[in-house]
Amino acid sequence: MRASVPRSDLYDGVTRTHIPSMAILKIARMGHPILRMRAKEVPDPTAPEVSRLVTAMVETMEDADGTGLAAPQVHMPWRIVVYMVDGTRSSEEEEGDIVCDVPLTVMVNPVIEFLDEETSLGFEACLSVPGMAGPVRRYENIRVTYQTMENQEIVFEARGFHARVIQHECDHLDGVLYTSRIEDMSQFGFVEELGKAQAGSPEEDDG
Ligand code: NI
Repeated sequence: MRASVPRSDLYDGVTRTHIPSMAILKIARMGHPILRMRAKEVPDPTAPEVSRLVTAMVETMEDADGTGLAAPQVHMPWRIVVYMVDGTRSSEEEEGDIVCDVPLTVMVNPVIEFLDEETSLGFEACLSVPGMAGPVRRYENIRVTYQTMENQEIVFEARGFHARVIQHECDHLDGVLYTSRIEDMSQFGFVEELGKAQAGSPEEDDG
């Protein structure tokens, strides 16, 4: 998903005679079989390989100006998700109700529970479906359980846009793209065209 820390903020003040080790990973696009696979549980969240992958995922997400990224999107079939929600963006979708601002979150082996039947429609986009967006119905209130990279179990509740981001990213772990959840395909299209049609540009939950 989008709107994150500009790359320059990460490396400010550094004279770049030495380029820090960075890994911008290639993002799989819709049609690639890895996006339809169920990703595997991570047996040891503290493994150095997990840490390296997460670092590369965060750099890739920021480079692509995404809000979130799931490991299968970078060709790694593991149940790992990274995301960061910028409040200024999410407030638009929340109709001014709630500003949600979530710092960089890394979830290993996340599991979602829906807390009630309430749902909402919102436009989503995905780094694996570049340039496109469409309306998706998601649960409003969810509980998430996941492991940190220190192997700590975290349980928390999320709602609204935050819950939408998590559902979108966790869908990737089950081989599901948001496109398969669009009920009204007449609303699915290129962001540029949708933007022309609807005065303001649609929300993009790029992930
Ligand atoms: Ni996505």
